[in-house]
Amino acid sequence: MRRLRRTQRIRDLVRETTLTQDDLIYPVFVQDGIETPEAIEGMPGQFRLPLAEIPREVKNIVSLEIPGIMVFGLPLEKDETGSSAFDRNGIVQRTVEIAKEQSRDNLIIMTDVCLCQYTSHGHCGIVQEGQILNDPTLEVLQKVAVSQAKAGADVVAPSGMIDGQVKAIRSALDSAGFQNVCIMAYSAKHASCFYDPFRNAAHSAPAFGDRRSYQMDYGNANEAMREIESDIKEGADIIMVKPALAYLDLIYAAKRKFHYPTAAYNVSGEYAMVKAATEKGWLDEKASVLEILTAMKRSGADMMLTYFAKDVAKWLAKK
Ligand code: PBG
Repeated sequence: MRRLRRTQRIRDLVRETTLTQDDLIYPVFVQDGIETPEAIEGMPGQFRLPLAEIPREVKNIVSLEIPGIMVFGLPLEKDETGSSAFDRNGIVQRTVEIAKEQSRDNLIIMTDVCLCQYTSHGHCGIVQEGQILNDPTLEVLQKVAVSQAKAGADVVAPSGMIDGQVKAIRSALDSAGFQNVCIMAYSAKHASCFYDPFRNAAHSAPAFGDRRSYQMDYGNANEAMREIESDIKEGADIIMVKPALAYLDLIYAAKRKFHYPTAAYNVSGEYAMVKAATEKGWLDEKASVLEILTAMKRSGADMMLTYFAKDVAKWLAKK
């Protein structure tokens, strides 16, 4: 075997998986009502941005040749039903309008469709007596997705693990004339401790209980395949496994089984682990990140949502 490992040229020739900028999606946090970017604790190098920063941010991302962003909003107001999530002047809707205007088709604009940043209780659906009401939540998610599509989103990404959400959103988009808007389904999204830095970033931690009545149990792989299969039947264009790093087996299984465009979400806790270790000098940041993201791609992911996207784009561009 060593003959094919002797020089860099030979190694490049036989390399099976190569990470490129085209594989990256950068998550962007936008907060209503702030004037200057706020550093996010637990996610060094990441910020909650004011709307006024969006043109500059989009320009930078396009110049780095990152193909897409995933927009997360932090609204001014939260209520029981998360109605600021579908306000036509909501933070995500205005961000998308500005980003679209600026980038046209040079940037794929994706939006997270969920209620947890917008509900006073921090859960991903309508709550009654401590329970998430699945079906009544579908109507709200339809409004959110359509309002984002109206603003100019290319891809809407339901992340609430509400049963039937992909079907409900597909039919709402189609009847509103948005047949060309894609759905990236957070299909196999597990109830994970690795979202903690995100919840601090997005002010979206649940006020009571946890998300285990709607997000998946991380012990389950067969169920992950059933979730993905049902999202495909409901009309998902892209499926997702989340988190990614500890879930490479599921990315691998999903790709082998469904041959579908597959996304992996390299989540906030995975980012935090690498950042913490590299800040201490215990790991090399560039080497760690490239190895982790290449492994996700090798396991079957076509695209990775990652807070490292800008760094990776710079590292790969310099080559
Ligand atoms: C919203 C949502 C979450 C993440 C993406 N969309 C948090 C959650 O489900 O609690 C997590 C992303 C990350 O940790 O980077 N439902």
